[in-house]
Amino acid sequence: MKTRATYLFFYALLVSSITYSAAQNSSGFHHFWLVQVWPYGYCLEVRCARNVSRFVLHGLWPVTFKERTLPGTNRSQPEILESLKKDKSLWNNLMYYWLSLSTWDKDKLQNFWIYQWKIHGSAQQQVVPPYYFRRAVQLTRYTDLLDTLNRADIHANGSSYPKVEFRKAIKTKTGYDPSLSCVFEGGHFQLKEVIICVDAEATNFIPCQRNKINGESCRDTIMFPTRTK
Ligand SMILES: *[C@@H]1O[C@H](CO)[C@@H](O)[C@H](O)[C@H]1NC(C)=O
Ligand SMILES: *[C@@H]1O[C@H](CO)[C@@H](O)[C@H](O)[C@H]1NC(C)=O
Ligand SMILES: *[C@@H]1O[C@H](CO)[C@@H](O)[C@H](O)[C@H]1NC(C)=O
Ligand SMILES: *[C@@H]1O[C@H](CO)[C@@H](O)[C@H](O)[C@H]1NC(C)=O
Repeated sequence: MKTRATYLFFYALLVSSITYSAAQNSSGFHHFWLVQVWPYGYCLEVRCARNVSRFVLHGLWPVTFKERTLPGTNRSQPEILESLKKDKSLWNNLMYYWLSLSTWDKDKLQNFWIYQWKIHGSAQQQVVPPYYFRRAVQLTRYTDLLDTLNRADIHANGSSYPKVEFRKAIKTKTGYDPSLSCVFEGGHFQLKEVIICVDAEATNFIPCQRNKINGESCRDTIMFPTRTK
């Protein structure tokens, strides 16, 4: 549930126009992608154990200035899970927003977060657990993509809409164009993922490089798929 306090908190962050000063160093880390999945598109391509009718967080991925993902350390850090368990509200948020679609198993769900840190998050050391996880869910919560799209009269009922309308709706919320990813199925480009660029502190939204927007897999018209009967 979104409390007024949450909104105010984010509003304060967004309007405070903190100067964006992430120095790029030898690792190449420059900013993050907040990657969110629309299950009914994503699961056309990937075998899923479940669908949920909301956007779920895939991950918060460190990328280079040129919008390439960076490999994490691939080191196992089981102690991270312990630190997450200590924060009940964070834990509940992770369970809601950062859902693995490939499993119903609670242990595997938890491993998914750790796995995401291991292969993506750990490529940078600027935003570390448990803060890394907290920011990931806070950003996801703030973008509130389904509601953001619904407000622009874009409905997940199998209808198709111009890509520019998806962009405009999300830009209204974040200030910048998202990068939209689709799966081509049944003669339609169907929405699969929404990628939003976030600064190196995982605090503010920033514009993605143009190549990330221009290179997206969705075409001019995007279908917003729903459950297949
Ligand atoms: C999830 O949704 C997709 C697309 O509608 C469908 O192909 C898939 O079978 C669904 N999976 C489950 C487990 O319901
Ligand atoms: C990560 O480590 C696992 C073993 O813990 C190994 O099987 C896998 O190949 C490694 N992946 C990368 C990308 O290095
Ligand atoms: C570069 O940044 C990464 C991630 O923030 C950090 O792990 C690494 O120590 C930094 N390296 C240098 C040379 O500053
Ligand atoms: C989807 O919902 C919109 C708004 O309620 C409606 O105009 C449209 O006809 C619906 N499309 C389908 C395929 O049901």
